[in-house]
Amino acid sequence: ADVSVEVATVDHTLQKVRRKYHHTRHCRKRRSPKKRFEELWSGLWTYPYLVVVVVTAVVFAVVVTVWALLWVFTCRESNNGVYFAGMIRVANEEFIPEYRHADSTEFLSLAKKIELVLSNVYKGSSVAKLYKQAVISDLSNNNLGGVLVHFWMVFEVPQLKSPAVREEWVGAILRDSVLTSLQNRTSVGYLLDLPVDIESILINAAQRSDYTSTSSGSECLDKPYAPLPGTSVPLELDPPGGGVSCHIKLTSAPGSVVRLTISSFLIQPSDCVGDALTVYDSLLPMSARTLRAWSGTCSMSDLLSTNALCKCSFSGADDVCVSACSSHVETQEGAGYTGHIYSPFHPSLLPTKCICTWLFGTPSPSLGVSLKFHNYVLRPKDPNAHCTHGWWKVNDHMFCGSYVGYSTVFRISHPSPEVEFRCSSRQAQMPFQAAYGSYNLSQPCDQGHFLCSTGFCVERHQRCDGLDDCQDESDEHFCCTASCGGPSPPHPLYVCDGHSDCSNGRDELNCTQGTLRWDCVGTCILKKNARCDGVPDCQDRSDEEDCGCGLPSPVRKVGSFSNLDRIVGGSNSLEGEWPWQVGLLFSGNLYCGASVLSADWLISAAHCFSKERLADPRSWRAHLGMLTRGEARHVAEIQHVVVHEFYDASTFDYDVALLRLRRPWPASLAPLVQPVCLPTPSFTPGPLRPCWVTGWGYRSEGGSKGGSKVLPAVLQKAQVSLLSPSECKKRFHPVTARMLCAGVPSGAQDACNGDSGGPLACQASAGGRWFLMGIVSWGSGCGRPRLPGVYTRVSKLTSWIHQHIT
Ligand code: ARG
Repeated sequence: ADVSVEVATVDHTLQKVRRKYHHTRHCRKRRSPKKRFEELWSGLWTYPYLVVVVVTAVVFAVVVTVWALLWVFTCRESNNGVYFAGMIRVANEEFIPEYRHADSTEFLSLAKKIELVLSNVYKGSSVAKLYKQAVISDLSNNNLGGVLVHFWMVFEVPQLKSPAVREEWVGAILRDSVLTSLQNRTSVGYLLDLPVDIESILINAAQRSDYTSTSSGSECLDKPYAPLPGTSVPLELDPPGGGVSCHIKLTSAPGSVVRLTISSFLIQPSDCVGDALTVYDSLLPMSARTLRAWSGTCSMSDLLSTNALCKCSFSGADDVCVSACSSHVETQEGAGYTGHIYSPFHPSLLPTKCICTWLFGTPSPSLGVSLKFHNYVLRPKDPNAHCTHGWWKVNDHMFCGSYVGYSTVFRISHPSPEVEFRCSSRQAQMPFQAAYGSYNLSQPCDQGHFLCSTGFCVERHQRCDGLDDCQDESDEHFCCTASCGGPSPPHPLYVCDGHSDCSNGRDELNCTQGTLRWDCVGTCILKKNARCDGVPDCQDRSDEEDCGCGLPSPVRKVGSFSNLDRIVGGSNSLEGEWPWQVGLLFSGNLYCGASVLSADWLISAAHCFSKERLADPRSWRAHLGMLTRGEARHVAEIQHVVVHEFYDASTFDYDVALLRLRRPWPASLAPLVQPVCLPTPSFTPGPLRPCWVTGWGYRSEGGSKGGSKVLPAVLQKAQVSLLSPSECKKRFHPVTARMLCAGVPSGAQDACNGDSGGPLACQASAGGRWFLMGIVSWGSGCGRPRLPGVYTRVSKLTSWIHQHIT
């Protein structure tokens, strides 16, 4: 380095100064100080001097004033940094280990390229002036292939305009740029030269403090890596306190997922929102990717994620418990939404206890107050139920809040309502905010508009246009007029379609016949189970697309007989009778069942994979086209297992998993191997059409029959009937919308241990196709009287399934 250093002591420096001072003194003539002062004073009051003094003073005053004004308008109206965390998947890039290190040349060169692309996108957009920079924080591998890019974006927005840059818009700009380049309906569009998966684009508003505390060099950031599946990396986190956020970025080898096990979680138990742990399925704190958030003490828990960031924010002080969420709020007439109310400690999580009171005022008695929520809705409180996501009192009427996937408008038909909110959950909840405004009590929506049940107003022509304009499809309900209250029965289109269209429930009464409705793209037709029934009903024939499923051709071998003694109360199946049935072997043992959905996807139950050692896809083999154990036509390896992200091991809710085969099974195996059809959300088996459960599981509770634990060699089948949700709820608790009960009153036919993950298939009509109604999930013992088996209700999960397999 080219640095020169001079070392000087204080004495040395003082000498230098003294020498200089002496020198100056010697050069001047000496005069008495008093005399010098008098001369100066009298000189000052001579005319030219006076002018100079006055002019200087005026100039000085002007300069000071101008400077002060400039400060007020430029510095005071200062810019706010607005931060966003983002994620995209670059599809063609192979993940290499060097990408894990942010200082490697490989990382830096890809990061530079992406930063440039982002900057080009935003600098060519409507927010160009506000865009400041993008910073790539991490590159990670992804089970869909390609590289997941995690990045920060910073916008500089004048304080007064700060709401102008919103995450929806920032995300939409990126999506738009990809969309314009999307060709041939593939999922990849090109951002300049970068192939980006449009589905993967996610932008979330974030906080500056998160940006600084997740960047390298932050005082509490750790990045452990699990190099091999099964490796466990101990984490110990002891944050320094005092409001510091600590982040742990967990990554694992390609093809594996991260399992985070929290064995102890000791934080100061308090109602304060500051003490919290949030786990994200992302390497940056992105609210849309929150896997779980806790505050207070939490019990042992297991989480699965593809990438994971664990953010722990600990606030030192307890006095943050006092929140300033109550206020007087004045609305204006006809000015739209003029301000916001926020949950306590917004944008942090909601604490477990809180009370806020907002007193609203409108300028005229003919106005009411409207509150527009994002992803949150208020519904009248059921007197027998507790509110679990917020308790609300609006002028003495009680409501419960809940989180939904769309925006809603809540209208209060009173000019000066009092709104009270209480936190009512045992766990910290997501924060909320609502925009407030006033509306005309006599006419909530403008002329020519329709009032959605979400509270939004949409233009009248948007009603019944086949598009979901209201966000809850309420603009598409009753499009053939359901006539819920009149003397004539409700319109058949709405009868028994699985949705309650009439508030009095008339359209869903006595639904043994099943639905008549089928939604083609944009229109609907009246026909029961129109999907794959061999008759093209929609103009675009979409009801008959992808129908290579569910048509078995059983072969009765000479000498084969039925043995009425298996599954529970089942009998031997025939060759090719259930061509979608798969036996799943874990470490060589038949452990669960599954069903074939396509050439490379199987479907099974999440609980088959929920313990640590079971989650490794390499330990599993899928036996396809098998009638007798050990005699499979084809054995397939599993590439990865997708367990439903909402699977709850304590209730078995969302008990579904998808298995991707390493290689597709050979087409020559058809018809002995064949997919089962996926039901539409409104599918119901035809009257008198049977449903069958199949598997190689135990033949009775405890597995013993005549004292010995014998598993059947031949695939067993048992016929069961479906129970209505209300019947099911009489037997078990809790039964969720993702569960389905099936059995026989005597209990003589049932599934049992070992059948899990296997199919409950029902035929649509005589000679028709077979649909996967259920997945064997749980039960109370096996084959007990009046206790049916509980299955995963597949029709509620089809969009999740399609999302992954198409
Ligand atoms: N959980 C069981 C398994 O892992 C399935 C139990 C089904 N029980 C019943 N009674 N239907 O194999």
